Amino acid sequence: MSGFRIRPATGADARVLTDMLVEAANWDAARSRARLTVLEDPAVLRYIAGWRRPGDLGCVAEDANGVAVGACWARLFPANAPGAGFVAVGVPELTLGVYPVWRARGAGRALLQELLGMAAEAGATRVSLSVERGNFAHRLYVSEGFTTARQRETADTMVRTLR
Ligand SMILES: CC(C)(COP(=O)(O)OP(=O)(O)OC[C@H]1O[C@@H](n2cnc3c(N)ncnc32)[C@H](O)[C@@H]1OP(=O)(O)O)[C@@H](O)C(=O)NCCC(=O)NCCS
Repeated sequence: MSGFRIRPATGADARVLTDMLVEAANWDAARSRARLTVLEDPAVLRYIAGWRRPGDLGCVAEDANGVAVGACWARLFPANAPGAGFVAVGVPELTLGVYPVWRARGAGRALLQELLGMAAEAGATRVSLSVERGNFAHRLYVSEGFTTARQRETADTMVRTLR
């Protein structure tokens, strides 16, 4: 890790998390949508709406001046309104993003590892996510112990067991 530190995400971090949600939704530059269009999509908005509600947990990486570098967070969804990476009630689904200028410097992996630790500490036994197979983040998740629980059309639902 270099040039950034990681701290727990608070209710005041909604803007940073929203930025990262847009980055995650727009991971493929060829299919990028305007920020407002992304956030009008209920399938995207549900990952951040009402942050920070009971059960939400997350972390933010920031530079030496306290400026956000990226964030990783996880949220619980009910079975009747599941997220794209839903596997079961009680299994939080995570979202990860790093601002473009900070990418490929270790922040994404460090945030992911921190979130996994936070989830385990909060009592979760598994964490899930949804990732498109074309996104190199897929390989990052595999390298951090995630396995594919379900293959969908172009995306995988992945799960990481916590010890
Ligand atoms: C995915 C993302 C969070 C990774 O963050 P990051 O800070 O760039 O990642 P790291 O620097 O920790 O690198 C993690 C691994 O990915 C690899 N990697 C980084 N950038 C890469 C790139 N452009 N292409 C391929 N691999 C890359 C690194 O080599 C590293 O592997 P290594 O440790 O074996 O060298 C970041 O690229 C991002 O915000 N992307 C857009 C949002 C997104 O797609 N989120 C995930 C949605 S499921």
